[in-house]
Amino acid sequence: MEAKKETSTMASGCLSEFESVKACVFDAYGTLFDVHSAVRRGGESLGDKAAAVSELWRQKQLEYTWLRSLMDAHADFWQVTSDGLDFALAASGVSDPALHDKLMGLYLSLEAYDEVAATLAALREAGLVTAILSNGSPRMLKAAVQSAGIGDLLDANLSVEDVGIYKPDARVYQFAVDRLAVRKEDICFLSSNCWDAKGASHFGFKVAWINRFKREEDRMPGAFVTTIQRLDQLPPLLGIGA
Ligand code: LAC
Repeated sequence: MEAKKETSTMASGCLSEFESVKACVFDAYGTLFDVHSAVRRGGESLGDKAAAVSELWRQKQLEYTWLRSLMDAHADFWQVTSDGLDFALAASGVSDPALHDKLMGLYLSLEAYDEVAATLAALREAGLVTAILSNGSPRMLKAAVQSAGIGDLLDANLSVEDVGIYKPDARVYQFAVDRLAVRKEDICFLSSNCWDAKGASHFGFKVAWINRFKREEDRMPGAFVTTIQRLDQLPPLLGIGA
């Protein structure tokens, strides 16, 4: 019988798989920024439909990225986010163009999760490179980072728009390797989106899945070094502050 590979912890608390990590690369939406904060802040007129609209909006937004990649019909994340919202509102029986525009506007200033800034600061202080690698368009990412006040804590803010296809296409993950000039096995990738974490691991990154919402793990190729619930659980696993 094949021995099960154990994740070993070094004396410092550093996971052995993370020993060589030189850069931490973060997914943006759902990982750094709370995608549901738009409807929470601007969707009061939706009443008891609010949570369902927000969930369907996110689901359709992501589906459209995968489908457009397969169809070779790329449109930027602003467009698919708008299309996803349009679908979610219509499917919920809501016809309100002003609400659509208001919620899209709020997508530019989504709330960051409360541990994000301190985690980025700790990684930076330890000498690690920090970056975003996201489906978001450059304008969306710039706005979200600015609004959250985390621009100074990031070395790079990378968008799939420079590649022309969405995650989990391997070319997107390779783009981060090329831009950061760090070997893929020395990159720790963090995403709360299980499918993205799977794609990144399959590509060759060392992955921590941020399972914020205690979701079931997708049955897809790609193994995680670790699964944690919040980003601030990461630095000790990299031997920082442990
Ligand atoms: C992103 C999506 C996957 O930020 O949330 O790339």
